[in-house]
Amino acid sequence: MSRIAVTGGAGRLGRSVVRALAEAGHEVVSIDRTSAEGLPARQLDLDLLDAAATRQAFARIAPDAVVHLAAIAVPGSRPDFEIFDINTRLLWSVLEGALAAGAGALLVASSPTVIGYGAPSGWEPAYLPLDEAHPVAPWNGYATSKAAIEEIVRMAVRRDGHRARFGVFRPCYVIAPEEWAGAPTQQGHTVAERLADPALSAVALFNYLDARDAGDFVTAWLDHAEDVPNGAVFFVGAPDALVAAPTAEALATHVPETAGAAAALPGTAAVFSSARAERLLGWRARRTWRTELDAPPSRPDPLRSAEAPHA
Ligand SMILES: NC(=O)c1ccc[n+]([C@@H]2O[C@H](COP(=O)([O-])OP(=O)(O)OC[C@H]3O[C@@H](n4cnc5c(N)ncnc54)[C@H](O)[C@@H]3O)[C@@H](O)[C@H]2O)c1
Repeated sequence: MSRIAVTGGAGRLGRSVVRALAEAGHEVVSIDRTSAEGLPARQLDLDLLDAAATRQAFARIAPDAVVHLAAIAVPGSRPDFEIFDINTRLLWSVLEGALAAGAGALLVASSPTVIGYGAPSGWEPAYLPLDEAHPVAPWNGYATSKAAIEEIVRMAVRRDGHRARFGVFRPCYVIAPEEWAGAPTQQGHTVAERLADPALSAVALFNYLDARDAGDFVTAWLDHAEDVPNGAVFFVGAPDALVAAPTAEALATHVPETAGAAAALPGTAAVFSSARAERLLGWRARRTWRTELDAPPSRPDPLRSAEAPHA
């Protein structure tokens, strides 16, 4: 058992990460400026932008490892310069506090948006599925803050890699357990509404991830932090796309600039590959919208009918 500090542990992703870590037998401390009911963790109310207070808090907690999720998580929710400023300052504060307290591992949440899809002046994938080797091209303050965070982690590997392990993950669009049952998702639509109107998810190339699977990824990374390359970046997503139609067909219809590369995607495959997480950590998402959704999509799912046409 280890003592793990989770920043942003009261958030949409954090709650499931805290639960997964506690279920795996870790002692968990959530550091957040809000709290969540029923979390199996000690909860510390702290503004992580206060670097001195953060340093003191980490010194008191003395975590073996830190999972850094706290951020302004919604692109466009504040002016770009503010999101960039807050998200990068949060990482500096947590990085220096965690290292000063002797933490041996730090896993940081980035975002698939670093890739740059949806840029108003155009974007085309170099290839599909997107993997960690694909070039990044962030086009807003949020995505640029995440690209900067990834660079800060690379710096930390060079500066501190002899005494700590670092990792970055890019969680796809997180769907918390209550959202399968009809609660609104991060951008304010239910999962069923997203499936009924593919344009809603097309802007993120139909990426998604069950929050509990994200929790399992974090647990797997902590288990293997010593064995994987220091600073490794991981896409973490469901194995399929959040759309009822075959992925290549949905991309050709809703994101025509990807049509050429999309032909390489078989069936319902995700646009984002989590193969590295599977290869290095043995992690694979276990839940998909097809297994978790309480109410079926309001339009017929052509794949399901194709799979069982004469049932
Ligand atoms: N939700 C997604 O679909 C998604 C996708 C990709 C990446 N991410 C990243 O994952 C992480 C978690 O996202 P989420 O969806 O759970 O977001 P969230 O907004 O639900 O949770 C973020 C938490 O961070 C806390 N926080 C923010 N500023 C803080 C501060 N100054 N001090 C202390 N706590 C602070 C908030 O109170 C909140 O509880 C973020 O880094 C986000 O960018 C999320």
